[in-house]
Formats: sequence, C-alpha cells, structure tokens
Amino acid sequence: MTKPPAASIHDRKREHLALSHTGPVVGAEHRGLFDEIELVHDALPELALHELELGTDFFDHRLAAPLMVTGMTGGPPEAGDINRRVAALCQRYGLAMGVGSQRVITKAAESLATFQVRDVAPDIVLLGNLGVAQARDLGLARVAELKRAIGADYMAIHLNPGQELVQGGVEADRDFRGALDTLARLVEALDGKVLVKECGTGLSPRVVARLAAIGVRGVDVSGTGGTSWIKVEALRNTGRMAALGHQFAGWGVPTAAAVAGAAGQVPLVVASGGIDSALTAAKALALGADVVGAARPVLQALLDHGDEGGAEWVETLLDGLRLAMVLTGCRRPGELRQVPRVLGPRLQAWIAQADRVPQGLQDVK
Ligand code: FNR
Repeated sequence: MTKPPAASIHDRKREHLALSHTGPVVGAEHRGLFDEIELVHDALPELALHELELGTDFFDHRLAAPLMVTGMTGGPPEAGDINRRVAALCQRYGLAMGVGSQRVITKAAESLATFQVRDVAPDIVLLGNLGVAQARDLGLARVAELKRAIGADYMAIHLNPGQELVQGGVEADRDFRGALDTLARLVEALDGKVLVKECGTGLSPRVVARLAAIGVRGVDVSGTGGTSWIKVEALRNTGRMAALGHQFAGWGVPTAAAVAGAAGQVPLVVASGGIDSALTAAKALALGADVVGAARPVLQALLDHGDEGGAEWVETLLDGLRLAMVLTGCRRPGELRQVPRVLGPRLQAWIAQADRVPQGLQDVK
C-alpha cells in the first residue's frame, strides 16, 4: 500500500482543527445522556467553600484538579502552536495534557518539534498518543521511543474503528485485528504506563473488562455526546462513505453510560466526550470517573478568545465544580460518587443492559 506523504497528513490535521473549531461535529443529540442524571441538592452541606480539595491522583502522579485536556494535534506548525498553548494552560492550573497522534513523526521526523512542550510545561502530566494499529505496525521499541522523544509520562493509545472506516484515502485503517494483543504487549513494555482511549465513540463495559483483563490500568472512555469523529470524517469525505458517516454520526456509547460501565474496572477512569460544562463534569465524577477530559471546548476557547479565554474556560469549569461539590456536601471530587442521584430511563437502561448478551436467541448456522 502507498504510504501517505507527510503533506497529506498535515492537510488532514488542518481540516480536523478547522472542522472541530467551527464545524457541525457533534454527532449525538442526547449529549452523552448527561440530561439523564440529576444530583440531589443538599441544603445543609456543613462545609465551607475554602475547605474543598480538588487534588486528584492520575496513576502515580497528582493533579491540582480532576481535569485533563485530551489529545488533539501535532504535525503542521500551527498544531505545534496549539500544543504549546494547551501545555502552558495545563502548567498554569496543574492539569494533565495529551498530544495528538504522533504517527506523523514517523512520516516526517521534523514534525517532532510540534509535539515538544516540556520547555513551557515542565511539571504537567503529559501523555503521548498513537493509534493501536500504528502501535501494532511500528513495534514496541518505536512506541517507547515516541513516548521518550517528547518527555511524556504515559502513552495514550487510541481506538477509533468508526472514524477509520468512514475516513477516506490510503491513510485509513481497515484491519483491526491484533489490537488486544498489541495492547497487552505495550502494557508490559511500557511498565503499565498506558491509557487506552476512544475518540468520541465510547468504550463499552465489555471492552473495558477485556482491557482490564490484559493489565490495562487506565482508560479514557471518550463517549458520544461531544465531538463525533465519524461525523468529522463524514464531513471530509464524499459519496457513499460520507452518507454512511452522517447516518452513523451518533453511533457509540454515550459518555455517561460509558463512565458508569467503566467505573471500578480499572484504577483510572477518565470521562471525556462532550464534557463542556462544570455540571457535566460533576455528573461524570458522580458516575465514577476519576478525572474528566475535554478536547474541542478547550480548542474553541483558545482559538476564539486567546490564552485568557482558555484560562477563563478552565476557571469557570473548576468554579462550577466547586459549586456542585458544596451543593452536594462533598469536600473532595471522589465523594461525588456517594451523592444521591436521580437517573432517567435511557441511562438506567444503558447501565442495566450494555453488558448483557441476548439470551434465548440461537445462532443461525
Ligand atoms: C481529537 N481527538 C484525538 N484523539 C486521539 O487520541 N488522537 C488524536 O490525534 C486526536 N485528534 C483530535 C483532534 C482534534 C482537533 C480534537 C478536537 C480531538 C479526540 C479527543 O481526544 C477526544 O477523545 C474527543 O474529541 C472527544 O472529546 P470532546 O472533543 O468532545 O471534548
């Protein structure tokens, strides 16, 4: 198969940034099912705002708050600028950050510079990024090298079969075999420093169970309700695949359901996919997430309102989280798990049924 030239990868990255910034890329109308959970108000919280502690563990590291900016970009020069601005923001607030897929470095070595953020963010928890198919094809040593090359603490490995199938061109993956085996070997080779993530289509409880069984210690469920990467590729594509991509734009596990299904299965659960407000963040933490993550809302805040816009987005989210915590009587984010809540029928159905295999239906031979 012809290898895509770096220029075509750069063009794709530019289109991803432009579409995520202003395009109609939210695929699911249910907004991650966060409307289906309400936390019960506590009018007698018996705590003071200044007593709250937002500090949260992220594997063996500590974040100042349970928030990360998930992987977005790298490659063209403007992507490097975005990575550095995101990194400075995370340094300022003690958050974790992921870079976008480092695949482009394997096509164009000079693009490594667009992933380098340690000079502006020496202390952040930093995650490298690669698709599982590339990790399989490149081999363990090369993946470890990509992690080391940017001074990352962990490697995020993304699963995105929906996006790949709708994406046109030679660069799209069509063969998803061997992913679990690749992940098992990577976990061992990288000493457990692996976070497995989806890209807006969600990890189901069964997938998280399969990951936990091979030793994966952290997942980012990246569910439906925010940026749909099937929709992004549908907007970039033409013809039949574009039509199918629009049809499948809402496909996937809604973020709230994915978080509930992942909770307790691995030590670190990141909730992302449509976390666009403090209230969705508080609800995700209540459903069992350890950390919440956002990509597109941060990109939009930075591109529309500059670095101070990014800071304003983070501070509004953290202030709102504090508000939700006081109003539910929680001193620490982890206590939100114990807060009484009212769940709607769709979220209840997802929680009850997402893990269940149909019974009584015989396989037709
Ligand atoms: C992404 N995302 C992503 N994820 C990944 O693992 N590797 C990548 O290279 C990218 N690239 C990328 C580019 C841009 C511009 C955006 C906005 C996002 C996916 C991202 O990390 C996240 O999982 C989803 O976007 C869902 O979160 P939001 O956007 O709804 O907060």
